[in-house]
Amino acid sequence: MWGDPSLYDSTLGILEEVLERGAVAFEYDVVPGISSVSALAARHRTGLTRVARPVQITTGRRLAEGFPADVDDVVVMLDAHQTFRQYAREDADIYWGAYLGTPDEILVSGPIAEASPRIERLRAEARARKGWIMDTYLLRLHSRD
Ligand SMILES: C[S@@+](CC[C@H](N)C(=O)[O-])C[C@H]1O[C@@H](n2cnc3c(N)ncnc32)[C@H](O)[C@@H]1O
Repeated sequence: MWGDPSLYDSTLGILEEVLERGAVAFEYDVVPGISSVSALAARHRTGLTRVARPVQITTGRRLAEGFPADVDDVVVMLDAHQTFRQYAREDADIYWGAYLGTPDEILVSGPIAEASPRIERLRAEARARKGWIMDTYLLRLHSRD
């Protein structure tokens, strides 16, 4: 498996279930990998945190319920619905990446109002071309600076 199983992974749970059934026996190791979140930050040459501030990693489904309280930097994974559009009127920047770490990598960053339609277009094109997409983004609010 690629990526870092510490983030929204189901592989380890599946392996444990298989072992519990007792039909096969095996051992496995977890090798620390580079998560899409780390790749995203590195490719945009930014950090996930600002000085003495927290960051929250969450899902598109949770972001759709509202921007998390007490945090201005939010990393969003598992978002099939482009929930960032909901925040296009905020004073915020987005750092978006698709197919991170692969030859098809696409990066977009900037004020969310400007970047949002561009991401939407690129995402739709890429999805139509490849048949699937994996994307992750950091939303950085400024209004509470
Ligand atoms: C089930 S989670 C697994 C994440 C994995 N543990 C990791 O470290 O990347 C799947 C989500 O991770 C993100 N993701 C995984 N690989 C990605 C990639 N190469 N580029 C962008 N996002 C990716 C997407 O948000 C996707 O919806």
